[in-house]
Amino acid sequence: MDRAVAVLFIFVSFLHTTAGQSQTKSNWDIYSFHINSTVTSRYAITVITSRVANRHDNSTEIDFHVKIPKTAFISKFRMTIDGQIYDGVVKQKEEAKRQYSAAVSRGQSAGLVSAVGRTLEDFKTSVTVAAHKKVTFELTYEELLQRRLGKYELLINAQPGQPVKDLKIEVSVYEKPGINYLKVEGSLASKDLANAITKTHSDKEAWVNFYPTQQQQMTCEGCGENGFSGDLKIIYDVERPQSQGEILEYGGFFVHYFAPSGLPRIPKNVVFIIDQSGSMHGKKIRQTRSALLKILEDLGENDHFGLILFDDRISPWKRELLRATQQNLDNAKEFVRSIRDRGSTDINAAVLEGVEMIKRYHKEGSASVLILLTDGDPTSGVTQLSRIQSNVREAIGKNFPLYCLGFGFDVNFEFLQKMAQENSGVARRIYEDSDAALQLKGFYEEVAIPLLTSVEMNYTGATNLTQTTFNLYYNGSEIVVAGKILNNNIDDFSTEEIICEIIATSRDSKVKYSDIKATKDDKLPAVMSGYENFLQRLWACLTVKQLLEKELTLTGEEKEAVKKEALDLSLKYSFVTPLTSMVVTKPEGEDSQVANKPKEGEKPPQIPVRMGIPGQPGPPGPPLSAGHPGLGGHFRTHMVSGPVGSSLQMSGDYDFALPAAAADYEDEDEDVGYAMLSPSGPRGDFGMAGPGRHPVIHATHSSTLESTETPTTRPARTPVRFLMAAEGQSLPLCFDIPAGHLVKLLQDPASGLSMNGEVASDEGQGFKKVIIHVNADVHIECEPYEITLKMKGLDIVHFLWRQHTQKTSSMILSIRDDEVEVSSGSLHIVVFRHQKDGDRLLWPTVRQRPSNTVFEGIMGKQLVTYEEHQSTSKLRIKDEEVSASKVSTQDFSVKTAPIVSCWLVEVKFALQGELADHTVSKL
Ligand SMILES: *[C@@H]1O[C@H](CO)[C@@H](O)[C@H](O)[C@H]1NC(C)=O
Ligand SMILES: *[C@@H]1O[C@H](CO)[C@@H](O)[C@H](O)[C@H]1NC(C)=O
Ligand SMILES: *[C@@H]1O[C@H](CO)[C@@H](O)[C@H](O)[C@H]1NC(C)=O
Repeated sequence: MDRAVAVLFIFVSFLHTTAGQSQTKSNWDIYSFHINSTVTSRYAITVITSRVANRHDNSTEIDFHVKIPKTAFISKFRMTIDGQIYDGVVKQKEEAKRQYSAAVSRGQSAGLVSAVGRTLEDFKTSVTVAAHKKVTFELTYEELLQRRLGKYELLINAQPGQPVKDLKIEVSVYEKPGINYLKVEGSLASKDLANAITKTHSDKEAWVNFYPTQQQQMTCEGCGENGFSGDLKIIYDVERPQSQGEILEYGGFFVHYFAPSGLPRIPKNVVFIIDQSGSMHGKKIRQTRSALLKILEDLGENDHFGLILFDDRISPWKRELLRATQQNLDNAKEFVRSIRDRGSTDINAAVLEGVEMIKRYHKEGSASVLILLTDGDPTSGVTQLSRIQSNVREAIGKNFPLYCLGFGFDVNFEFLQKMAQENSGVARRIYEDSDAALQLKGFYEEVAIPLLTSVEMNYTGATNLTQTTFNLYYNGSEIVVAGKILNNNIDDFSTEEIICEIIATSRDSKVKYSDIKATKDDKLPAVMSGYENFLQRLWACLTVKQLLEKELTLTGEEKEAVKKEALDLSLKYSFVTPLTSMVVTKPEGEDSQVANKPKEGEKPPQIPVRMGIPGQPGPPGPPLSAGHPGLGGHFRTHMVSGPVGSSLQMSGDYDFALPAAAADYEDEDEDVGYAMLSPSGPRGDFGMAGPGRHPVIHATHSSTLESTETPTTRPARTPVRFLMAAEGQSLPLCFDIPAGHLVKLLQDPASGLSMNGEVASDEGQGFKKVIIHVNADVHIECEPYEITLKMKGLDIVHFLWRQHTQKTSSMILSIRDDEVEVSSGSLHIVVFRHQKDGDRLLWPTVRQRPSNTVFEGIMGKQLVTYEEHQSTSKLRIKDEEVSASKVSTQDFSVKTAPIVSCWLVEVKFALQGELADHTVSKL
């Protein structure tokens, strides 16, 4: 099994628990924190209640910051301060925005309170509370749990930010047909907090309680004075005694769940359309290969399949769909192993080719599926998005679904969503991560087993129905239809009965389920008080979701009408949807804030840092833009990446070699067989450039492949420019390191701490990845969208670039927006994240270092001294005349990344040694 698959994924949230925590602790006290989640017939209503006391003698700004699942709608937010209630109000987005910008233009700060992560989104606000007063925050959100791969999953994230005396998470689940199984997973269930969980279970109901003691919250693995953090996942499935499903009726509304499983698998005709454009290079293409190899193994013997690779050209594996026989699969795998990234992106031609292939192979009793995987915008062939959409729509003609998988954050996700939506499919984002292959495979599994096609659900006695026709029904999923009961009259027991009939096509026959009726339910199960109309809310929630999807594919008046309908429902049920915002009202004198539902695919917005107002303690966390312990230490080393076309020699001089050992750990498919291109001898000889020997530089995988296979399409490799302060001189030196190198940045032989970085390849700038090995047991990996903490014996933890602090006995990791600080003893390392030309780049710097320590690595270098020469293009460094040119470049080692001037010299003069002495074979 590949290792990426073995990585356990945990989502940990990030509250405001940065360096300000000691102040926080003494200032406010969360004395009670409850999360109460009630699931009734898949509809989950969750309330987070946090009670906080200001123990301070002055008024204090108290934060409330929680994470909720992306799939949920916030429906209520209330603050109670000193008996006074402040309710959030859901308004039309534009209207809320107008109010919000009014506050902004008055010069008052009013912040956005949402950001989006992989599965969760943020809700964050704060309020000023007078001395020795209390505030209660209460947030409610609702969601319809969707069945995937045979299960429902309720995700609860908790990180109160400090140990809490009265901490309770209570979940109750009620499913009328019976609960088949229920288990609790997530990081909180796997840590030593697991014994704080109790689970009880009857036929139809289950309860999960999580009551960690204050002591446990402080002493659990990875916990501390900030308390614990993590997820609980309640995973379950329901009994399905009848294959026609279950209709539940209540309060004038009904919902029908239909998920038959005892049907034969329908052979499928699947075409995978795989982007192999240059942007896919490196990890993405490796993960794609790896996922495809596994997906091929899962094809059924009667399935037919096709593979199309595309960049600016279309390369089908075979012109026709072939049956998934062992021989064909083996050949296809060979083909998949040969996939390499190359040119630009012609989505239009590729999808149309896929459609043609499927159409040429048309057979009764089979289900056709088209799966497109891409990581970028169309850049060749037809590039106008609307034209691609209409071409594809016409070609497919609603005959089969198109699923669009967007790899990473450079894709226009809305475009994919719309194209999928128009062709009865869905779009899914694949996060660039070590588990991307797993995500790809996971998606495929959801659509791997079609059981029914052309499903039509007909109801009598009902109105305001949600979607009733479905192209395909897959094993492990569920069809949900909700609606309003006609002529519902509460006084009159002769309510019209709903009767449903389902017509669909199974593998070899038409199937029909008729006369399906609601099972009468007299007793309402325990629902959250105030939510007795949950079935009506469920209907509204599903209707809004479907209208929002539909709206994507419409234009003009139709679009406006659908939008209006979704907006009205959102307002009526006070759902914070993409069309609405919640205005968080606050006590007089404080500004309202506006909570928006972040868009899928939106990069997390920058939340401005707010400074404390004089006389009032500021919000927790140090101000980021001020008060850095000076960068101006004696050994200050600046690093900068520069513009294209530097005067130094670049990769042309080197042969790139990649020993298998240098592959990063996520690399799944060793069987790809990379060539060894080094002229300098056998494997193991790397980085040992002795006197007179040819220096051997290690490039990343993809560079190796690119530079050997398709040299002509290769973009110019931009080097990355480093700055280095010089003693007694105003202008620093700078030097270039060729793209794609793995460099040794810092090493402390005494403590064992070391930091290595992967310089961006191709047109990237800065670093793609920086790894800090605090010691043999603690490793921190910084990547543009994620920070990963690996500690021996513990689960791997991923963080977003958002406020979080994690302490271990050997270091403190503080994450702030666009800044990661690792402190170990008196050594403080900061990794900045910058945005440049739409890309994120990393830049490490040493903020504070112990005196009297000699470090190795590029950033550990002693200061160089130089003298300027009479001539303007020469410097004298250590008695040597060195050619230099004055250039300007951006200094990424400073948060503001200013443009500075520097003397550009060859690496060996700046480092006083060969570059090979400063590279590593493995991060
Ligand atoms: C409380 O506020 C006053 C002024 O408003 C200030 O002088 C005092 O230092 C503050 N006390 C604390 C503990 O911050
Ligand atoms: C569908 O899934 C169920 C388990 O969820 C399994 O028992 C059944 O065999 C599957 N059907 C097919 C056709 O694979
Ligand atoms: C959670 O909600 C249920 C149903 O409204 C209620 O009975 C229970 O007391 C609540 N628990 C907490 C901790 O608020």
